[in-house]
Amino acid sequence: MAERAKLAVLLSGRGSNMAALLYAAKAQDCPYAIVLVASNDPDAPGLQLAQAEGIATFARPHKGMARSDHDAVMDAAVRAAGADYIALAGYMRILSEGFVRGWQGRMLNIHPSLLPKYKGLHTHERALEAGDSHGGCSVHLVTAELDDGPVLAQTEVAILPGDDADSLSARVLIAEHQLYPRTLAAYVRTRAGHADGAG
Ligand code: GAR
Repeated sequence: MAERAKLAVLLSGRGSNMAALLYAAKAQDCPYAIVLVASNDPDAPGLQLAQAEGIATFARPHKGMARSDHDAVMDAAVRAAGADYIALAGYMRILSEGFVRGWQGRMLNIHPSLLPKYKGLHTHERALEAGDSHGGCSVHLVTAELDDGPVLAQTEVAILPGDDADSLSARVLIAEHQLYPRTLAAYVRTRAGHADGAG
């Protein structure tokens, strides 16, 4: 197989999507490898998990920093790690335009709704309040507008009678963990194919 694409993962918390990306990358035919897990929170549990798996980590709290300055620090860390792609995985920061522009077409995000529905926070509550038959998750390319870039793939998750935001989010998370690695791998393969002139 050709050399794997180098992936940096940005997270702010638990890191279960990062873990899903990481475990998927243990398969021999996975087209990406995680080279860095970075966070705006030094105490993010996801960082510990990555360290235990032997992945390099980086943390810089955003408190007291201008958004663009903090983004520049994160960007420098990601570039120093040699990353080709960034996967946002519960990175709860609005990104500055310059940072987004620098990674155009190479930065993906997972969002726990069927975009374009329910951008932002409290997605499951809003799906339940609206009486939707399904919640779900979306993987999309990151653009300057929040949760607005082109959707690459989605998984619908049926809402059950009696669901609350916790039960629905737990089920959507199962779908997230499958959708993100698969979609990222397909995206990286397609781009590598084009770069080789092979596809
Ligand atoms: C996930 O549900 C992810 O979709 C969501 O945060 C959670 C992070 O969980 N992201 C967003 O809401 C981004 N707008 P994790 O840390 O266990 O992956």
